[in-house]
Amino acid sequence: MSLRYAVIGSGLMGQEHIRFLNHMDDAEVTAVADPNPAMRETAATLAGAEAFADHRALLGADLADAVIIASPNHTHHDVLLDVMATDLPVLIEKPLCATVDDARAIARHANDRKAPVWVAMEYRYMPAIARLIDEVQDGRIGKLKMLSIREHRFPFLEKVGHWNRFARTSGGTLVEKCCHFFDLMRLIVQAEPTRIYASGAQDVNHLDERIDGETPDMIDNAYVIVDFENGVRSMLDLCMFAEASRDQEEIAAIGDLGKIECGIPSSSVIIGERQKVERMGVALPLHRETVEVDPALLDLGHHNGATFFQHERFRQMILEGGEPEVNVEDGLRAVIMGAAAERSLRDRMPIDL
Ligand SMILES: NC(=O)c1ccc[n+]([C@@H]2O[C@H](COP(=O)([O-])OP(=O)(O)OC[C@H]3O[C@@H](n4cnc5c(N)ncnc54)[C@H](O)[C@@H]3O)[C@@H](O)[C@H]2O)c1
Repeated sequence: MSLRYAVIGSGLMGQEHIRFLNHMDDAEVTAVADPNPAMRETAATLAGAEAFADHRALLGADLADAVIIASPNHTHHDVLLDVMATDLPVLIEKPLCATVDDARAIARHANDRKAPVWVAMEYRYMPAIARLIDEVQDGRIGKLKMLSIREHRFPFLEKVGHWNRFARTSGGTLVEKCCHFFDLMRLIVQAEPTRIYASGAQDVNHLDERIDGETPDMIDNAYVIVDFENGVRSMLDLCMFAEASRDQEEIAAIGDLGKIECGIPSSSVIIGERQKVERMGVALPLHRETVEVDPALLDLGHHNGATFFQHERFRQMILEGGEPEVNVEDGLRAVIMGAAAERSLRDRMPIDL
């Protein structure tokens, strides 16, 4: 059965959604909404869709079976409330909202709603990361004890209206960018965090920029340590002036029986099992592989093909029923963790959750 999608917010990420939906069988983007005329026209042409300057006019036109929201973080609360007043399934880009208060307000409304709200967390669907998650959950490394996530990347790109230059519109770096990694931590650890400690600052990026006379306030490097209620400890190592790196993301999970690592974009997975190691100085028999990703998917977006796999699952939920794999509660908890980490680094104190 063919599904009709509406895309609200048609900048970088909205257009990535459109390219992937264009690529899918039985999917059609029929409407786009964006107040920015240039983005709106580009996206409408890309999709062959009807264009609206306001998302409420789009919702009133009754052109879609599902809605994708990819507007800036600080608009998510208001746009999502309007979409939640319909009975359409919705995929909302991360973070659920820019503030914990807004995310909690959405969570309260979501309880009264029948149609699903899915929070887009593309990192879950990157093939090498999905493989690591499966291996940990299948017990390959025994009982998980430590999880580290490193992102060493380029500075924030320029966005329409500069919304990603200020914490008040983005939520701050550890919400805007790192909600992905806090979501991954909860998923892989299978427990809730109890304590967060962060050390970080804005040391290099955007310091010489002036936007309406103001200097951006987004931190560009941090270490964040997270303790979980089941005793697992996790760490995020973020640097946004480190594009001269082998991989952009590196994840390592260590259990009592072994260790599994993965890298993006190399899509590499390395597994080491302790019982196979001869104690004194014999080379480790590590299992190494590259998880193949269709090159056509790599060309369509920035997320290692993940946007496509996420759309396949979103579509399956719409057609066959079932719950979102990433629900509003998951989205809220990722925002809470990011906001706590932002507070921890500013107050130089650990935060108990
Ligand atoms: N999941 C990911 O990995 C990922 C990657 C990039 C962006 N994102 C998320 O996607 C969202 C959009 O980011 P982007 O990079 O595309 O930003 P962008 O600035 O490139 O695009 C945002 C677009 O939304 C439009 N817009 C502003 N207010 C609007 C409103 N009220 N209704 C509709 N459209 C509105 C802007 O005019 C702009 O065209 C953000 O929430 C961001 O965090 C997620």
